[in-house]
Amino acid sequence: RLRGDASPAKCTRQEQRWRSDHGIVDARERFLRAYGRLRDDLVGDDSCDLTDEARRWLAQMIDYNVPGGKLNRGLSVIDSYLLLRQGSEVTEDDFFLACVLGWCVEWFQACALLLDDIMDDSHTRRDQICWYRRPEVGLRGINDGIILKCHILIMIKKYFREKPYFLDLLELWSEIALQTSLGQMLDLIGTHTGADGLAKYSIEGYRRIVKYKTAYYSFYLPVANALLLSGAELEDFSSLKDILIEMGIYFQIQDDYLDCFADPNTIGKIGTDIEDHKCSWLIVQALGHADNNQIEVLHKNYGKKDSSSVSEVKRTYAALDLKDVFSEFERLCYNHLVTSIEAQKDRAAREILKSFLKKIHQRMK
Ligand code: FPP
Ligand code: MG
Repeated sequence: RLRGDASPAKCTRQEQRWRSDHGIVDARERFLRAYGRLRDDLVGDDSCDLTDEARRWLAQMIDYNVPGGKLNRGLSVIDSYLLLRQGSEVTEDDFFLACVLGWCVEWFQACALLLDDIMDDSHTRRDQICWYRRPEVGLRGINDGIILKCHILIMIKKYFREKPYFLDLLELWSEIALQTSLGQMLDLIGTHTGADGLAKYSIEGYRRIVKYKTAYYSFYLPVANALLLSGAELEDFSSLKDILIEMGIYFQIQDDYLDCFADPNTIGKIGTDIEDHKCSWLIVQALGHADNNQIEVLHKNYGKKDSSSVSEVKRTYAALDLKDVFSEFERLCYNHLVTSIEAQKDRAAREILKSFLKKIHQRMK
């Protein structure tokens, strides 16, 4: 089931109800409307003398890679901003600025996924063939990823240059870009199948990788943007940040679980963690629960491309009841997060965290 176009995913009934309860009824529609304006501005930007062919490529590349996901990260900027501003009027202009930052997060995600798919040798993403696998793209896709990253700075400069928090925004975005790239580096160098093979994988190492490659940009970045936009100081929200990072780690553990156990038609991508010798949460758990024979099977088959090796690894995961291990982890993690959220003094911080948790708890995609 390949979609082949870039129509954004619809929101669930539960999500609609949550937004309506919080007075955010048409946020999604307004967010989607802002996309066309931002895309057209970037494609039409005349600071470079581009050909019509180049502008067509840009428009197609952006449409293919940016808007076709769940949009959770981008919408989280809007949801968090509206929660922070509750009690004061949000003008059309304020709302649009939140949309710009929300789309900047989606542009960042598009860049990261486009490049990650090349590095992970992936096949499909968001129900379509990975951009780099299109015959006319190939490794030219690397340059497209760099362009998407440059677009973020163009948008931030265009809309926020005069704002008192402009420098804070720039610092935030450059810090998160570095953290995400370093997280990706940790993830990739872990896949070197040297003499120590799987022996180097541990839960501490796992948490380090996913905190940097996923949690900062997926959970902290949307909220930090909303905080700056609402005039807050980031230093005043350090415990909010800590819980968001913890949630980001939980989110990537779900991603690793779904990579192996979910139907590719549901998650819109075909998992490659076993073939890629990834330090996935599942392999870390398997190594912790396996007996000597099972460890030998994992060492022999993990990180091999052929389907019989992948099946051997999946058979071992089944024998170790990793689905149940995951369910129990999810239950404990959820309870722990709820307790930490309730302990937050700031009401808006609690509401923001609850909205994130609701979006990801027991997610199937
Ligand atoms: C996905 O992990 C990992 C990421 C989305 C992070 C990738 C980061 C980079 C390529 C660096 C990008 C840098 C900037 C500045 C944007 P995964 O492979 O476990 O997830 P998947 O199953 O969705 O592929
Ligand atoms: Mg990947």
